[in-house]
Amino acid sequence: MRNIRIDDMEFELLFDHEQIQKRVRLIGIDINVKYADKHPVFLGVLNGCFMFMSDLMKQIHIPCELSFVKLASYRGVRQGDISELLGLGMPLKDRHVIVVEDIVDSGRSLGRVMELLEQASVASVAVASLLLKPSALQADVDSLMYVGFEIEPEFVVGYGLDYNGQCRNLPHIYRHIDAQTDRKSQEMR
Ligand code: IMP
Ligand code: MG
Repeated sequence: MRNIRIDDMEFELLFDHEQIQKRVRLIGIDINVKYADKHPVFLGVLNGCFMFMSDLMKQIHIPCELSFVKLASYRGVRQGDISELLGLGMPLKDRHVIVVEDIVDSGRSLGRVMELLEQASVASVAVASLLLKPSALQADVDSLMYVGFEIEPEFVVGYGLDYNGQCRNLPHIYRHIDAQTDRKSQEMR
């Protein structure tokens, strides 16, 4: 299905499952080579990562471990301050960690994950994110080593990503059709 509608929003196909699998296979090959003797820990950031993590791990053929964490945000001094990693059930001291993310948008939540990992005295940390919105980035992302696709700063759903809690189950990725922006860009042509 090329177009879908969720509540009040219209979406069109951006990457189909086969395209995604091709990128995931390449990322897997890269990691297998670079981490062959490092026994890495893959750390998936829930909820969005679950589908990417599952497909990526099927491409990893070296000794490794995996775990999932969730970022808990609390209302601190600034609203929505993110302050804790929930669910980390293993010590990460001196381990080579590969953080697995669905998407890096502003980079703020990834930045917070990195801070928390630094406190855990890891040996090294790299990030694998299926999607990156380069022009939306506001934080430092030196550790972003593996990116599936760079996309425009547009809203996407499917393959783990949600809109109002829906669509995480879809095998493809869809982008929001923004009628206003589309009209403007047509006028400029
Ligand atoms: P950040 O702005 O990089 O901190 O992104 C934080 C989180 O916002 C991501 O991990 C996603 O869960 C969510 N997010 C960002 N962009 C999108 C999108 O286009 N669709 C769905 N969720 C998104
Ligand atoms: Mg995420």
